[in-house]
Amino acid sequence: TWTTGNVIEEQVERIRAQVGEGTAICGLSGGVDSAVAAALVQRAIGDRLTCVYVDHGLMRQDESAQIEKAFGESTGGARLVMVDAEEQFLSALAGVTDPEEKRKIIGREFIRSFEGAQAEILREQGVIQGDHAEAKTFLVQGTLYPDVVESGGGEGAANIKSHHNVGGLPEDLSFELVEPLRALFKDEVRAVGSELGLPDEIVWRQPFPGPGLGIRIIGEVTKERLDVLRKADAIARAELTAAGLDRDIWQCPVVLLADVRSVGVQGDGRTYGHPVVLRPVTSDDAMTADWAKVPFEVLSRISTRITNEVSEINRVTLDITSKPPGTIEWE
Ligand code: XMP
Repeated sequence: TWTTGNVIEEQVERIRAQVGEGTAICGLSGGVDSAVAAALVQRAIGDRLTCVYVDHGLMRQDESAQIEKAFGESTGGARLVMVDAEEQFLSALAGVTDPEEKRKIIGREFIRSFEGAQAEILREQGVIQGDHAEAKTFLVQGTLYPDVVESGGGEGAANIKSHHNVGGLPEDLSFELVEPLRALFKDEVRAVGSELGLPDEIVWRQPFPGPGLGIRIIGEVTKERLDVLRKADAIARAELTAAGLDRDIWQCPVVLLADVRSVGVQGDGRTYGHPVVLRPVTSDDAMTADWAKVPFEVLSRISTRITNEVSEINRVTLDITSKPPGTIEWE
């Protein structure tokens, strides 16, 4: 019979058998899948697992610190390497406004930072010596059953090559994939995560895109604009949570129209500030979505607080487009 306890026991056994005396690396994104995969592998092989979290500077308010804290507490102090790559990402994004260009740059810089951290870890462990790989190592991924089906199935334990020439890993290094969630659906992953002691903020975290707030600033991404968006986003999230709407809403991007300004009035003064867009949606799988009918009083509180507390923003708008034709994210 299927119980979370059985799944955990079985996966821990399998991971031990697969990894043997080897070492493994897992990239954490802040999302539930990578966290549960890492927690399972940590249970199986302890500190022979090293987790890597690349902080690209595009996360929401206090998010990176929360991920570090939650992960450390719930896995009994697994090894976690935090890479502070904010400057690297912001300088690579300087002057860029095209959405696809932004996504490409963020993806490329992510691989560069992640592989840089991997190379350092694997050198410490003796897996890489000089320019050569002395051994194979393991890479943990939070692939779920629907991803396996979508990509045409196949058995696990695939080998993948590094993206050499990007992040400085030797060409002869290969990774064997460890994918302990390959048989599970999202709700089962959440159940396993809870059973393993991961906190609700991780287990029930709403989807958040890999490129982060970088694709929620329409226009160039700068530190100043990110800070403005982070303040507005934190207010919207706090009010939605306080209203008890987190599990009804799939997610609610807050988008900063950084190149648009409009005239307003506040106190006795004229303002000339930026608008933000609230994009609350309901969905089952993000393939289609509807705009969420958030109660007017909640919208009203969000609007009042954002315009009072974030001086650069003088207008709050609501996106009432379903998907299709709109996507959930604006870029
Ligand atoms: P769209 O905007 O295509 O988004 O309707 C569908 C879902 O995917 C998320 N999303 C991403 N997730 N990396 C991710 O991990 C990405 O590059 C990315 N882009 C969009 C989005 O937040 C929504 O849940």
